[in-house]
Amino acid sequence: MTKSMEKIVSLCKRRGIIFPSSEIYGGFANSYSYGPLGSEIKKNVKDLWWKNFVRDREEMVGIDGPILLHPKTWEASGHLENFNDQLVDCKNCRARLRADHLVESKLKIDCEGLDDDAVSKLIAENDIKCPKCGEKNFTPVRKFNLMFSTEMAKTGEHSQAFLRPETAQAIFLDYKNVVDSTRVKLPFGIGQIGKAFRNEITPGNFIFRVIEFEQMEIEYFIRPENWEKLFEKWFDAMKNWCEEIGLSPENFHEYEHAPEKLSHYSKRTIDIEYDFPFGKKELYGLAYRTDFDLTQHEKFSNQKLRWRDEGGEPFVPHVLEPTFGVDRTILAVICEGFCEEKLEDGSERVVLKIVPKLAPVKVAVFPLMKKDGLPEKSREILEKLKIFGLVQYDDGGAIGKRYRRHDEIGTPVCVTVDYETLENESVTIRDRDTMTQERIKISELVAKLSEKYFS
Ligand code: GAP
Repeated sequence: MTKSMEKIVSLCKRRGIIFPSSEIYGGFANSYSYGPLGSEIKKNVKDLWWKNFVRDREEMVGIDGPILLHPKTWEASGHLENFNDQLVDCKNCRARLRADHLVESKLKIDCEGLDDDAVSKLIAENDIKCPKCGEKNFTPVRKFNLMFSTEMAKTGEHSQAFLRPETAQAIFLDYKNVVDSTRVKLPFGIGQIGKAFRNEITPGNFIFRVIEFEQMEIEYFIRPENWEKLFEKWFDAMKNWCEEIGLSPENFHEYEHAPEKLSHYSKRTIDIEYDFPFGKKELYGLAYRTDFDLTQHEKFSNQKLRWRDEGGEPFVPHVLEPTFGVDRTILAVICEGFCEEKLEDGSERVVLKIVPKLAPVKVAVFPLMKKDGLPEKSREILEKLKIFGLVQYDDGGAIGKRYRRHDEIGTPVCVTVDYETLENESVTIRDRDTMTQERIKISELVAKLSEKYFS
């Protein structure tokens, strides 16, 4: 069954997962806030990634670099020259459009390698109309650099700075300091999680393509002769991650970039695409960046960025780059987990079947009634369950309603405290996915939940 983006977006707003940003001012296009539950999911994703790819791997270290880097970085990296899209404006309705997308959707041809004049000509000669107003009144096609620029207070040579469009460059700039300050040996990797900014011409599909987002990136420094073997190893690690966050293997796919479509820095790129409700789209990527970045930074900084083996010739290491978008991870996890189920009694429920590791609320505890010592007993139990992460006390409405509320936000298990609890120290636990209930002793609760949900 195809899942509806409309329903997913509405659930995210209703339950405090993701809100459109700046709503009191009428909204600010294509930017979003993570609400109380969304920020928990985001933190869980980033913590799990950091544990999986940085802490648990001996050959990995992490950094947390700045968003604003020396402006020469972007000359060296090629972003000033190459990080462009072809833009066209409709003079009639002022829509701003990707020129290559206009041509590709009408003529089914690829604009890769065509200059701005050639694309303008194709638009003029092929009766291509503005998809918003239907007119044929376009400006000439021009290149539009996707980096956001900003003015520094300091005037002079470097008064213009750029918000980083990828976290990767902060890692390359710290390569030398990491090598000099740690005991890493080739191959080794530097991981980083942080914000990136892109002035996308056509953002959209909720948090899929936004102007401000987060990336989790690794630059893995290797000897060039080992790149193919290590490329495969990293691609396997990326697929394992997809399964760990609960994506079904039939919903994600490999997509190898054709040589003429590769980014200016890459010799080979494979994406992992996910079946989002709006189509199969890029989730993550793995690129072989060769020695492109370090060599460029050597040239522009006049510093040596070499690896030195004892007795051997110093050389510029090559780089593999596994890259993961945080926001796209969250979107994929929510799309995968979102289910509308018809129950035996004819009623319906919405349930977010997300893996317990990423669930915003780990356990909810309900007193059957708001009296007779049940709230106090529930809070006592809640305290013990805080070891699992965020847990919630919920006494609002009938028990059935409370289950539905927690089904919608993906709480893996709910604990109900009733009069029997006061008699024999037992509670009922109810599983989100199967809806089965089981009575267990409070003394066994932590061990049981650990084993079943949080091991
Ligand atoms: N350092 C390499 C790099 O930045 P990329 O494919 O342009 O490569 C990496 O971006 C990942 O960042 C993508 O796979 C995607 O998950 C995420 N991403 C890129 N642009 C994005 C956008 N506008 N909004 C949300 N996520 C984005």
